Amino acid sequence: MDTLGSWKRTHYCGDLTAGDIGSEVILMGWALRRRDHGGLIFIDLRDREGIAQVVFDPEVNSAAHAVAETVRSEFVLAIKGKVIPRPEGTVNPNMRTGEVEIRVVECKLLNRSKPLPFMLDEFSEANENIRLKHRYLDLRRPQLQYNLILRSKVSQVTRSYLTENGFIELETPFLTKSTPEGARDFLVPSRINQGCFYALPQSPQIFKQILMISGFDRYFQVVRCFRDEDLRADRQPEFTQIDCEMSFIDREDIITVMEGLIARIFKEAKGVEVQLPVERITYGEAIRRFGVDNPDLRFGMELCELTDLVKGSGFKVFADVAAKGGIIKGLNAKGCATFSRKEIDDLTEFVKIYGAKGLAYVKIENNEWHSPIAKFFTPEEISAMNATFGAEEGDLLFFVADKPKVVNDSLGKLRNHLAAHLKLTSKDDFRFVWVTDFPLLEWDEEEKRWAAVHHPFTAPMDEDLQYVESDPGRCRAKAYDLVLNGNEIGGGSIRIHQEQVQSLMFRMLGLSEESARSKFGFLLDALEFGTPPHGGIAFGMDRLIMLLTGSDSIRDVIAFPKTQKGTCLMSEAPSGVENKQLRELGIRLVEKQG
Ligand code: AMO
Ligand code: AMP
Repeated sequence: MDTLGSWKRTHYCGDLTAGDIGSEVILMGWALRRRDHGGLIFIDLRDREGIAQVVFDPEVNSAAHAVAETVRSEFVLAIKGKVIPRPEGTVNPNMRTGEVEIRVVECKLLNRSKPLPFMLDEFSEANENIRLKHRYLDLRRPQLQYNLILRSKVSQVTRSYLTENGFIELETPFLTKSTPEGARDFLVPSRINQGCFYALPQSPQIFKQILMISGFDRYFQVVRCFRDEDLRADRQPEFTQIDCEMSFIDREDIITVMEGLIARIFKEAKGVEVQLPVERITYGEAIRRFGVDNPDLRFGMELCELTDLVKGSGFKVFADVAAKGGIIKGLNAKGCATFSRKEIDDLTEFVKIYGAKGLAYVKIENNEWHSPIAKFFTPEEISAMNATFGAEEGDLLFFVADKPKVVNDSLGKLRNHLAAHLKLTSKDDFRFVWVTDFPLLEWDEEEKRWAAVHHPFTAPMDEDLQYVESDPGRCRAKAYDLVLNGNEIGGGSIRIHQEQVQSLMFRMLGLSEESARSKFGFLLDALEFGTPPHGGIAFGMDRLIMLLTGSDSIRDVIAFPKTQKGTCLMSEAPSGVENKQLRELGIRLVEKQG
């Protein structure tokens, strides 16, 4: 094995172009592929910027050629050589470095690699668990390098923009008390205070509000948050927020500054112009038209309200639901009358996940309703429904009747599911929308109490404050989410800045005065010492990068992500600990349950 000696890299492999022809260069990187061509050996040498083709000619340096013969995938090389044009017919227009190759004059073998557990080519579809176990190898792939380099760019642009706009970057503690955002806390036992636990923050929410009380006026932090919740493709137990808070402002000020941030990120990291101002929709309208509070506006297929049209009809399922205060809605899958029985059965199973009891459907063929339920409706009812759906020849109409939540959830998810199935969307189309006027509280059926829709520190709309106790369900919050292509990428609100209102909110959430004080006493105290009106927002940085890079999973934009089960397959966390450590913490384990 060779040492670097006095060699210094002159260029990144991926940066060489026709402009470098004639230069003497030193490159360092990993051997991606080796091809032997009767005497000449070609190696694709890779570093973080890309790939260069290096050529070993036995007539130029037979020792270097002999080394090249032993090179296998992922051996680490340094080469000294001359940049030359590729011979006629061998130019590769798909590569940045495709017009040149490097004729090797000298070569150093810096390290070897064992045979890889999976191939690194972009097309390799190795099982994700194997890739996560060897994350250091998977991270060598150009796509993951691109994702993480873009991520770094986004943090840097964020810091510049917010700093230019008067925000101060401050850090808040990780070892802290519970900061609820609706998930479970990760707990950390204290050795010095046995029997006591820190909670890892679900967000810096309370601390950033306290920083406003302290007068910092504008704060931001690119910060890790921890939530012990069930994981999905767009969720991780630890994830990063771009967290912001501002004083003496209203909702419009926050929206304006944050639209500027998003536009700057998209422009500088991706070269995409975001049209400002971003569209807005109220929560009520989002649910009515799209069934969900994170609507994807890249396609139509809006939900239709049919309750009044069918409540008096002969179809008992619909009439009964309407009589019990439920609703009937539908959507028109344009041109989908060709769907097979199996496809429709699969969609019926799909909506059942969201609680629907069935999925009635109608095919429009030969200008007529073809459907098991057609016989229950009069020609007048049918033509009124056709008009509502905008139904045309070849369309497929779907209906769900149930409680509003079930109808909206199932049709809203069906709408997204169909769009994916029909490939109605493009990842390069970025459609933003602010969703505003969320409800303040929602009834939690399991816990039999009201729960905060956003978090307990969000202010009610001024005109709804009077109803917080008498009619909690009708109160709207000063909360807003930013949605991109059907993903919630950020959420925030104007906060409660009066102690009495905060105490009232805790009471509404079923917290006794005693438990409110024990959990949030420090906030309640602070609120009484001159709290300015304030509000803020946090963006989910991982989700944002996932969408910017067109990745399917949040795991592809995090260097060391966790699996769906919350484990790190590389380091094997979480893992057992020694008894001695447990004794020091005063912890004794009980038998594992189940
Ligand atoms: P919220 O809970 O809406 O608000 O979180 C803000 C944004 O963080 C992202 N996010 C996640 N990303 C990955 N994995 C997760 N488990 C996860 N959970 C949330 C989402 C979300 O929009 N303190 C408030 C913000 C505020 O009011 O200022 C908060 O945390 O993109
Ligand atoms: P049934 O009368 O149960 O045979 O149902 C007739 C059709 O209505 C079937 O296609 C069912 O999937 C559908 N259906 C049943 N219940 C509902 C419901 N609550 N909402 C929408 N469609 C339903």
